[in-house]
Amino acid sequence: MKHTDLIELMTDSAYLQQEVTVCGWVRTSRDSKNMAFIELNDGTSLKHMQIVIDKAVIENPSAFMKLGSALKITGTLVPSAVKQGGVEINASAIEVLGECPPEYPLQKKRHTLEFLRTMPHLRVRTNTFNAVFRVRSIIANAIHEFFQDRHFVYVHTPIITGSDCEGAGEMFQVTTNGFTQEYKNKEDYYANDFFGCKAGLSVSGQLEGEVAAMAFGKIYTFGPSFRAENSNTPRHVAEFWHIEPEVAFAELPDIIEIAEEMIKHIINTVLEKCPDELAFFEQHFEKGLREKLETVASQDFAILDYTDAIELLKKADADFQYPVEWGCDLQTEHEKYITETAFKKPVFVTNYPKDIKSFYMKQNPDGKTVAATDLLVPGVGEIIGCSEREADLEKLLAAMEAKGMTTEEYQDYLDLRRFGSVPHSGFGLGFERIIMYVTGISNIRDVILYPRTVGNVR
Ligand code: 4AD
Ligand code: MG
Repeated sequence: MKHTDLIELMTDSAYLQQEVTVCGWVRTSRDSKNMAFIELNDGTSLKHMQIVIDKAVIENPSAFMKLGSALKITGTLVPSAVKQGGVEINASAIEVLGECPPEYPLQKKRHTLEFLRTMPHLRVRTNTFNAVFRVRSIIANAIHEFFQDRHFVYVHTPIITGSDCEGAGEMFQVTTNGFTQEYKNKEDYYANDFFGCKAGLSVSGQLEGEVAAMAFGKIYTFGPSFRAENSNTPRHVAEFWHIEPEVAFAELPDIIEIAEEMIKHIINTVLEKCPDELAFFEQHFEKGLREKLETVASQDFAILDYTDAIELLKKADADFQYPVEWGCDLQTEHEKYITETAFKKPVFVTNYPKDIKSFYMKQNPDGKTVAATDLLVPGVGEIIGCSEREADLEKLLAAMEAKGMTTEEYQDYLDLRRFGSVPHSGFGLGFERIIMYVTGISNIRDVILYPRTVGNVR
């Protein structure tokens, strides 16, 4: 169907006074005595295009004015009569492509995000989702750009896997068999299954990412990860998108530098390419959003040792629900205090106790902590989990034993420590979490097309 994107007409003055054909959906309309007006949107821009209908040219325009209906319009692009620098179309012909009856649920101007979650197939047509998903797309591209420009190889790690990277028992099982009493035991059951052993959906591409980094030096993944954790919070979904760079010959400070640069590149790209969307989020979701992003992009992030974080929290003038002791995991309330009250900016918390972190992290000489860091940001909390990896075979085996892990499924991973082992580091960025931070949207369910959470797979 020959037509021009609305964004083209709004940004290229060569179209002025030309005859154009556009397609889109009616977002609002109003009727007056001799004229009628339609705000048309085709999804290429957050802004709508005003269609001006002269009733002397097009009789009975009410047939075209129903909210949600799809139209094809031909007319002349002219400067807007009221909006400076804006354009509108004086319609000469209108065709209805798809009717939309009054039962269409998005009649009201603004619905709550909670209400919109009940209709994932329609909510994408609202301004909020138009803005969120354009920013999501721009950020995805910015991430590829960042790594490609720095000689990282984009690898695709498997989604079905036999090993649980985080060792937290949060894997969804992949099976073609139902368990029946005919099986003597679990081993017998798994042996009879599709892969001949237990398999699940990957919680992280890291272990395979490390394999690739030992060949290509610098790699990144960008794909879905799955977590069967039963946490019904505004920042957890069972299926999220995960960016995981892995870098050979990098120690913890090196990978921290890359993570900070990447976040700043993402923010600067959105500041540059999404001014309309940011203005929209600023108006409806987070006051001062643009200024926050500009400040974050121009300052160094803080680096705070876990042990110092514990001291800070102990001295804090705050009523924490969860007590703070060296060795405890940081709860949301603690992360909030560190980023929102104490530092008011992104903070890398480093050198966590080894007992609360994963087996693969490099053990520090103190025997108690690991060279790991989480990047915490105001409003969202943890957006990056990062560490230098244990490159020493004996130490890695000891850590696995201490955590009660069996080594059979990890022989390939252990081989990396047997054949040309080098210091290396990597991190995982939660794609939806950085989108939340950049847009000011406070629930992860509203930055992903179809959120998968406990009890919800619509
Ligand atoms: O901290 P996590 O569990 O770290 C890893 O998976 C490492 N293997 C990463 C690596 O070093 N390559 O997860 C990394 C990030 C978190 O910081 C968070 O942003 C996001 O993934 N994440 C989730 N996002 C949404 N919903 C969930 N259920 C998430 N779980 C983790
Ligand atoms: Mg983590």
